[in-house]
Amino acid sequence: MADGVTASDVQTVCTPEDLRATVGSWKAAGLRVGFVPTMGALHDGHLSLVRRARELSDRVVASVFVNPTQFGPGEDFDSYPRSPERDAEMLAEAGCRLLFLPQVETIYPPGGSTFVEVEGPSRDFEGAERPEHFRGVATVVLKLLQLAQPDLAVFGEKDAQQLAVVRRMVCDLHLPVEIIGAPIVREGDGLAMSSRNVYLSAEERRAATVLHRSLEAVRREVDAGQRSAFALSQLVLTVLESEPLGRVDYVAVVDQEGFRPIETLADRSVIAIAVRFGSTRLLDNLHIELG
Ligand code: PAF
Repeated sequence: MADGVTASDVQTVCTPEDLRATVGSWKAAGLRVGFVPTMGALHDGHLSLVRRARELSDRVVASVFVNPTQFGPGEDFDSYPRSPERDAEMLAEAGCRLLFLPQVETIYPPGGSTFVEVEGPSRDFEGAERPEHFRGVATVVLKLLQLAQPDLAVFGEKDAQQLAVVRRMVCDLHLPVEIIGAPIVREGDGLAMSSRNVYLSAEERRAATVLHRSLEAVRREVDAGQRSAFALSQLVLTVLESEPLGRVDYVAVVDQEGFRPIETLADRSVIAIAVRFGSTRLLDNLHIELG
């Protein structure tokens, strides 16, 4: 347990009123509040976000909410893995003190008709592949931030485009919250942790390490001085296409803020990839910061 926090110290609340009461009492006591929104089915990647929030704040609140509006028709909303009891235990172990576990009708009151569209960073890649996805993400993140009123919120760099969308929204709407990006957490063989990894067959799971291998090849080329987006994306493609079980959706070389394609690496760039293994789509990326 982190800093003497035990599972019994973690309070679970389901209503906005109870959430506000606890967070409000923390803030009234002068405590800094960190927030980690999740869709549950937690793994070490999520827990690293909680730990980061712990480092930067006095109290951490997490939400577990499988958000229907960010799933497209035919996507895995119904089958998305759900494990609320285990999630609560894991959050406790990572030092979270409050779990917000709302119902769908709490977040989306009947008759609701307000949504958030973040143009720009939502447009390409995941946005093109999943047309309603970022509208759903931005809408739920805004609602959760409004409800939890944290001082800071931590998001994984694994979903690099989502992070760019959230940062844009927070800036555009003048939300009084600091957005923190936390590094990708990987399995021992390099596969980025994801709740959807459980969908992979044993053979696909082995093959999926190709994502990390392709990004490692890029890292070496960048270290050797390569700055051409075309050359780097060709290198990624060559490595990815060496794995017959994978089907590449995209390889993107973009600036971190706008998530727009670039020709030459910028000071802060991302190489983002999406690859299908059977019906499972895996995302990974490399954040590159040039001195
Ligand atoms: O990254 C996720 O798990 C989700 O997109 C988020 C940010 C919790 C919104 O539902």
